[in-house]
Amino acid sequence: MNVEELEGRLTELASEAVAHLAEVADRENAIQVKNRYLGRKGSVQELMAVLRELPHEDRRRAGQASNRCKEAIEEAFRERLDDLARQELEERMVAEALDVTLPGRRSTLSLGHPLRQVERDLIGIFAEMGYEVAEGPEIEEDYYNFEALNFPPDHPARDMQDTFLLTDGRLLRTHTSPVQVRTMHAYEPPIRIISPGRVYRCDSDLTHSPVFHQIEGLLVDRGITLAHLKGTLTTFAERFFGAGTAIRLRPSYFPFTEPSAEVDVECFFCGGDGCRVCSQTGWLEILGAGMVDPNVFEAAGIDPDVYSGFAFGLGVERIAMLKQGINDIRRFFENDLRFLDQF
Ligand code: DAH
Repeated sequence: MNVEELEGRLTELASEAVAHLAEVADRENAIQVKNRYLGRKGSVQELMAVLRELPHEDRRRAGQASNRCKEAIEEAFRERLDDLARQELEERMVAEALDVTLPGRRSTLSLGHPLRQVERDLIGIFAEMGYEVAEGPEIEEDYYNFEALNFPPDHPARDMQDTFLLTDGRLLRTHTSPVQVRTMHAYEPPIRIISPGRVYRCDSDLTHSPVFHQIEGLLVDRGITLAHLKGTLTTFAERFFGAGTAIRLRPSYFPFTEPSAEVDVECFFCGGDGCRVCSQTGWLEILGAGMVDPNVFEAAGIDPDVYSGFAFGLGVERIAMLKQGINDIRRFFENDLRFLDQF
């Protein structure tokens, strides 16, 4: 074989290899084909064995022809790998495509149980006024629930509380007021607390549940008067029911406050004109309040000649029912999502 023939054979080999590479379907096959031509025992190397037979002056030319052939094959190999990678990517993009025009699934973001929402709002308003949250036990001693709150044994006011008594002499607390006493035992004035929690009474109808929720407030300091109580409750009513909401205090009786009052807010449905919700009175009763009775201070170890204070207590269910127009208290406790999802 002379050098011209060798050049011809190398060109043929190159185009044969290029054609081969164009047909391979994956990377492994491309490598195999490339090695078949360019490997140590590949076709190009095999062909170049004739180099030894060529005259010296032709060897350089033969070597250049061999390099051109190898480069052509290498280039075809690289291009094929690029093509295969591109192809694979395109296939994956098609296979993994997301249709972003499909409408999304609606996620349900819960704001919590309607009672918790009201409780959270109420606590938030008093927290802004500097009140701290205090808690007490639901299984309570007679002392904290009644005696220290100035309900003497056999006092008729105990009757109003429909108490669940436990066999060990303790009871399920009938109100959050015992937290007043526990707090005054534990801390020196000035005291400013708000106490949310569950309370229990043996009572059940459209507006009464054997378990319900109250929020208690207590403020004790030097020089506290009924005016402070009224100002505080007015601020609360305006924040919770809307600016300009008036309140009124009606004389009442609680053993642990003197004087005591029932507190009404101007009906937020009719603005005070009179409607079905407020039974045409223009007012809604929302809480009980009063000045802490000196007997309660004495039981709690606070000197009533130095300190005075006010307390108030409200029912969370009642406020939630008024605000949301709910007429059956049992709705809160049935866990019916058709009801709960409306809030
Ligand atoms: N504890 C009373 C009840 O459950 C509500 C109450 C009235 C709380 C007057 C108070 C208050 O702190 O001053 O009926």
